[in-house]
Amino acid sequence: MKNAKIGYAVVGLGIGMAHADAAYEYDRCELVAVCDINKERLEKAAEKYEGVKLYESFDELICDSEVDIISICLPSGMHAEFAVKALEAGKHVLVEKPVDITVEAAMKIDECARRTGLKAGVIHQNRNNALMKPIKEAVDAGRLGKMVLGTFAVKWYREQHYYDNGWHGTWGMDGGGSLMNQAVHTVDLMQWLMGEVESVTSKMGIYGHDIETEDMTASVITFKSGATATFVSTTCAYPGISTEICLYGTGGSIEADADVLKTWKLTDSWDIDEEEAEMLEKYGGGNHGAEMSDPMLVSGHKSMIIDMVDAVIDGRDPQISVSEAVKSVHIVNAVYESARSGKTVTF
Ligand SMILES: NC(=O)c1ccc[n+]([C@@H]2O[C@H](COP(=O)([O-])OP(=O)(O)OC[C@H]3O[C@@H](n4cnc5c(N)ncnc54)[C@H](O)[C@@H]3O)[C@@H](O)[C@H]2O)c1
Repeated sequence: MKNAKIGYAVVGLGIGMAHADAAYEYDRCELVAVCDINKERLEKAAEKYEGVKLYESFDELICDSEVDIISICLPSGMHAEFAVKALEAGKHVLVEKPVDITVEAAMKIDECARRTGLKAGVIHQNRNNALMKPIKEAVDAGRLGKMVLGTFAVKWYREQHYYDNGWHGTWGMDGGGSLMNQAVHTVDLMQWLMGEVESVTSKMGIYGHDIETEDMTASVITFKSGATATFVSTTCAYPGISTEICLYGTGGSIEADADVLKTWKLTDSWDIDEEEAEMLEKYGGGNHGAEMSDPMLVSGHKSMIIDMVDAVIDGRDPQISVSEAVKSVHIVNAVYESARSGKTVTF
């Protein structure tokens, strides 16, 4: 398919607008169509993207022969149903996080993609934050020595009106609250950096919002490697405080807040303080705070839409597969199960 232009479509025009923006700008694809049941959102898209086709019906969108890839940007509990429909109609899919709200539903996308030979990618754009590359490289190279402890804290804030949109904070469509919706990004990073989870022991509660699910979780997580992590999430931390990602091993410590590096002390360094100063110079500024209080101010989608288009054209797998993305959904649901039962959940 080299040199062919890929036809791109987006269903769901909330965060889906970031997908549409990226597809509209990328020269290896063409934003062919957008779909939403909300007419106002469709009209806004029509004003922004010249010549784009508008669909109110997903069933009609998937019959459009000019569409090759569809970004699924619907409420989380709808992802698998719509992704499978798109795949069955011959379209590749790029699915927003979380891939779906249950492992079973998510794996239906994986099964369908394998059966149809089409590609299914998932958005976890924070893996592409500039700082994540050197952290992941340091971990993979064993520079932290034996991993001892991880501490992860997603201290965000959402006002009540965020939860009054019909699906946020519901078990049926959001699949949870602060952990499944906001902190799932950091759960993904945790398992990517620390490896396979062995068990979780958790508490959760509702404190600052009128919702069905939770706005606070706190967990102790053990890993097959023998390391332990603490993981807390909340949408009650006014006005949106931090996303702490801290790793401690026998070979040193790395601490970050979102994509802002705070500490880089690795004992195998040619000069521990000098290396830290260089790393802080490069990564100490970051893009701090954008998504902590405004869910629409997210960065990094562009990289994932480009990756998906390239994967289809070049005949390779997308960066993050369904079977990779489902790991964070598995962990989140284990946290909920442990918090409900009061027992440790073993994987
Ligand atoms: N990667 C990120 O940083 C990020 C940020 C925000 C949201 N998200 C994820 O994106 C997904 C969507 O979130 P959102 O905040 O954009 O939600 P949203 O409610 O703002 O947008 C969802 C859109 O889907 C439309 N829709 C619902 N049913 C439809 C149907 N049957 N056919 C066509 N359109 C339909 C709605 O009208 C709405 O416009 C969620 O899974 C969320 O977790 C990811």
